[in-house]
Amino acid sequence: MAQKFSIVRTVVQFRQYINEWREAGFSVGLVPTMGALHEGHFSLVDRSVAENDRTCVTLFVNPKQFIPNEDFDVYPRNEAADSKALKGRLVALLYAPPLDEMYPEGYITSVSVPGIGEILEGKFRPGFFTGVATVISKLLIQSSADRAYFGEKDYQQLRVIERMAADLDIPAEIIGCPTV
Ligand code: PAF
Repeated sequence: MAQKFSIVRTVVQFRQYINEWREAGFSVGLVPTMGALHEGHFSLVDRSVAENDRTCVTLFVNPKQFIPNEDFDVYPRNEAADSKALKGRLVALLYAPPLDEMYPEGYITSVSVPGIGEILEGKFRPGFFTGVATVISKLLIQSSADRAYFGEKDYQQLRVIERMAADLDIPAEIIGCPTV
């Protein structure tokens, strides 16, 4: 089935697509990424395409999950290569918001998941899981996806996201996928 591929950069545009799909009765799968896509990401994308009528991939390098000694500025970014790869995989939409769309001036709210978010990696990268939970809660709310896909490779991240979604009554099913 041929699938039109679009790129949007604002929440308003993102929701227009989602609303049209909802009206048509389509299910929506979400694959959040920070770009620099590889086979691991593509396995999440393929699973979402198989399980949903429409798949959105998000591309956002989230500054809130970089701790002070990690360099947000040098994180690999190649949207042209990423979108080319997604076009061939039946993805309907790439949502690639700029920084000030996700965190506009005055933005202050954060979502923290104490306990599971503070042990292991959270101990060595304080604030990392708060950054992840914050951006993923926003993306799940913005997309109102039926399902969202994450790698089991980042197992603690997956558990933090499951806890956050359950606690905030976010209805998306959080799906962990085998490491590729
Ligand atoms: O695993 C990642 O790439 C990121 O932590 C995620 C889940 C996309 C949130 O920015």
